[in-house]
Amino acid sequence: MIKLDGITKIYKTQHTLNKVLNSVSFEIEDGELLVLSGASGSGKSTLLNIIGLLDRNFNGKISYNDELYSNIRNASNFRNQNIGFIFQSHCLIPEFSVKENILLPVIDKSKYKEKTYYCNKLLKYFNLMQYENSLPSILSLGECQRIAIIRSLINNPQIVLADEPSGNLDKNNTEILLEKIDHLRKDFNTTFLIATHDENVLKHATRTLYLENGNIK
Ligand SMILES: Nc1ncnc2c1ncn2[C@@H]1O[C@H](COP(=O)(O)OP(=O)(O)O)[C@@H](O)[C@H]1O
Ligand SMILES: [Mg+2]
Repeated sequence: MIKLDGITKIYKTQHTLNKVLNSVSFEIEDGELLVLSGASGSGKSTLLNIIGLLDRNFNGKISYNDELYSNIRNASNFRNQNIGFIFQSHCLIPEFSVKENILLPVIDKSKYKEKTYYCNKLLKYFNLMQYENSLPSILSLGECQRIAIIRSLINNPQIVLADEPSGNLDKNNTEILLEKIDHLRKDFNTTFLIATHDENVLKHATRTLYLENGNIK
């Protein structure tokens, strides 16, 4: 479970202060599909970055299964073990093949064989098997997005944070993604927090939080 308590984020530029989050508090239960909605610029990505330990410069408290974020020393290690992140822009590494990109978060090489098998299974599931040895540059945006989705799942994270993951997907591929999310929630109690406006995703949500004027409505 993730608990946010009074999260406040101010972006400071040379001449301005922009309070994007103003004492945001809520809890995320295990196994939820929580949708984060709100106008463009309302702070969805900012909040995901904070929950994903990508941005540690904020006020307030967050805990993950009672462990305070402020006590976590090695954020990348923590992320690697617990959190899958799907970025709005897919952030695949151009020099690496599809398969290498997906297996990049597998740090424990003793798991490589098992994870290669899982990678193949997911590539088949998302109808991308033919691209396993391709470079991302030959793929469409939607294909890259689905590969980034697979990469976020490869370490079986307890929570997946996704920033507009269906932004480049057609309806059919969005349905495939939603079905996978349902499986993972059922089989592993995986938690999903998804920033999106996509009606198809909203329909599947267990709860929707709407960000407005720096807070949850
Ligand atoms: N690194 C940054 N520096 C300064 N301002 C930022 C930065 N990132 C985002 N902002 C500002 O914070 C606000 C919220 O941005 P963002 O979290 O990206 O919103 P959303 O994802 O809901 O569209 C916007 O006004 C944006 O301009
Ligand atoms: Mg955003």
